Amino acid sequence: MSFDRSIKIAPSILSADFANFGQEIQAIEAQGADWVHVDVMDGHFVPNLTFGPPAVKAFRPHVKTFMDVHLMIAPVDPYIEAYAEAGADMITAHVESGPHIHRTLQAIKATGKMAGVSLNPGTPLESIEHVMDLVDMVLIMTVNPGFGGQKFIHSGVEKTRRCREMIGDRPIHIQIDGGVTTETAPLVAAAGADVLVAGSAVFKGGAVDKPEVYGENIRAIRAAAEAAQ
Ligand code: DX5
Ligand code: ZN
Repeated sequence: MSFDRSIKIAPSILSADFANFGQEIQAIEAQGADWVHVDVMDGHFVPNLTFGPPAVKAFRPHVKTFMDVHLMIAPVDPYIEAYAEAGADMITAHVESGPHIHRTLQAIKATGKMAGVSLNPGTPLESIEHVMDLVDMVLIMTVNPGFGGQKFIHSGVEKTRRCREMIGDRPIHIQIDGGVTTETAPLVAAAGADVLVAGSAVFKGGAVDKPEVYGENIRAIRAAAEAAQ
């Protein structure tokens, strides 16, 4: 995948119909999603449980764009290989998801997949300073991870601006996850983010038999972000 800083919308299928993932993925892609964001939760690192590797493997054939797998599990290292084999294009791990984030990112790179590192709202930007040359993306959480539909935490905007400075000319994406809407997308796009995850703001009002609503929602978020970039 070639690198660019154009706005990419990555709907989180955490907000999809759980009885209908194949059709939901096809619908969001047909309606303009750039990436498909898969939230993996373990009921330990975060207070919710979602998708094991077999579920992610079942999503894979439906994803024609880019499957972005956000691991919110601890310890993460024992499961990296399994999510890589399940077909992730990018694997993102949290700074706190094991004792050695550098080793974790090396392990992701060793699978041949792209690597992302994620910061919770309370995690300082400095914690990733020494792993920047190992990553393809920094994920800045703008909610505490675990659930969709939470309120955007505004300190992520300044963190994004400083992260963009830290990246300089390096080909590293900045992804924002949590509470992204047409109101908050411009704030983070102006600060330097290029990949916007959105769960509730993409899926609200739509369904697989009403996919055009997904398209309207995606276009509205993209337009708001692009106008601010
Ligand atoms: C939260 C997840 C997010 C979440 C976003 O832990 O990582 O991807 O689904 O949902 P919204 O866009 O509804 O805040
Ligand atoms: Zn996520």
